[in-house]
Amino acid sequence: MSDPERELRVSKIRNGTVIDHITGGQALNVLAILGIGGDEGMGVSIGMNVPSDKLGTKDVVKVEDRELSQGEVDVLSLLAPEATVNIVREFEVVEKKRVERPERVVGLLTCPNHNCITNQDEPVESAFEVVDDGVRCEFCGEIVREDIGDHLAVH
Ligand code: CTP
Ligand code: ZN
Repeated sequence: MSDPERELRVSKIRNGTVIDHITGGQALNVLAILGIGGDEGMGVSIGMNVPSDKLGTKDVVKVEDRELSQGEVDVLSLLAPEATVNIVREFEVVEKKRVERPERVVGLLTCPNHNCITNQDEPVESAFEVVDDGVRCEFCGEIVREDIGDHLAVH
């Protein structure tokens, strides 16, 4: 157990979603991929690089008054494979979801290949197949292996 005195405390929430065990430093990318920019009006708390027994350091994101679906959380697996998603109602954790790798990711990422059709102002939506070592553009075959958060289409 880590010393509770040393843990950074972000307040418990009454209702909403706690995304825990996020890879350290990925919290802002997690919010971006969920389309949460802060101007929607709900409470959002972020803990970054807080000590974790399992991960060394981790990020935590708490979104009030919104319950994320399994589909929404699965895209997080690309950025934060160890993330756990806790649904909270009246201060109690009522459900814990693990993120699972989706088979495809549509419309969320941009292709790093400038010659790719998806970067030519054509009305095509980006689509990536999730492969063992990253994600592969279904249009040009380009593979993104690292720093997938740097290729988010949503900002
Ligand atoms: N949490 C919260 N508000 C609540 C209840 C829980 O913000 N009303 C947060 C906790 O701070 C924790 C996460 O939700 O970050 C999961 O809560 P819980 O399952 O109680 O904690 P652990 O058992 O430590 O979770 P795990 O086993 O997944 O590490
Ligand atoms: Zn491409």
